[in-house]
Amino acid sequence: MIRDILIHPDPRLKKPCDRVQEVTAEIHVLAKDMLDTMYDAPGIGLAAPQVGAMKQLIVMDCIKDGPPQPMVMLNPIVFWASEDLSVYDEGCLSIPDQYAEVSRPGSVKVRWMGLDAQTYEQQFDGLWATCVQHEIDHLNGKLFIDYLGPLKRQMITRRMEKLKRERARFGDGR
Ligand code: NI
Repeated sequence: MIRDILIHPDPRLKKPCDRVQEVTAEIHVLAKDMLDTMYDAPGIGLAAPQVGAMKQLIVMDCIKDGPPQPMVMLNPIVFWASEDLSVYDEGCLSIPDQYAEVSRPGSVKVRWMGLDAQTYEQQFDGLWATCVQHEIDHLNGKLFIDYLGPLKRQMITRRMEKLKRERARFGDGR
C-alpha cells in the first residue's frame, strides 16, 4: 500500500526515531508499504519518519538499470566511514524538486538488523553510501538541507511551506 509522504517542515521529520525491538507483523507491513511508496514516488531511499512512523527503519534501492535490489534495514548504524568524501546533488522525497550538493564520506560500513532479525554488516560506496547516510540521518531527525548554509536552507523551507499551503488549498493536504 502506498502511504502519504510527509513534506518538510513537519515536526515528525525533526525527531529521533525509536529502535525496533522486535520484528512484528506490523514492521513487515511497514517495510513493504515503504518499498511500494519509494518505487511509486519514484525514489532511491525512504525512511520510516517520512511516512509518519517513528521507527528506525529505512528502505533503499539505488539500482537504476537492471533488476530491483530492495534493501530493508532496521536500527542501521554507520560504524566506519572513509576519510575521502564524495559530493552528490541530493534530493529528498520530503523536499520535492529541491536539490543541493552535499559532501559526505565516500564509503561507509553499516550494521543493521534484517526483517529476519539477523544482524548484517556491509560496506557501501558511491551512490549507495550517500543514500544510506541520508536515510540514517532521517532516523536522527536530520535532513540534507541541514548541511547547507542558513540562507539556502531557509529559502528551501519557505518554498516547501508555500507548496504545503497550495496543496492544502487544492485538497491534497497531508
Ligand atoms: Ni530524504
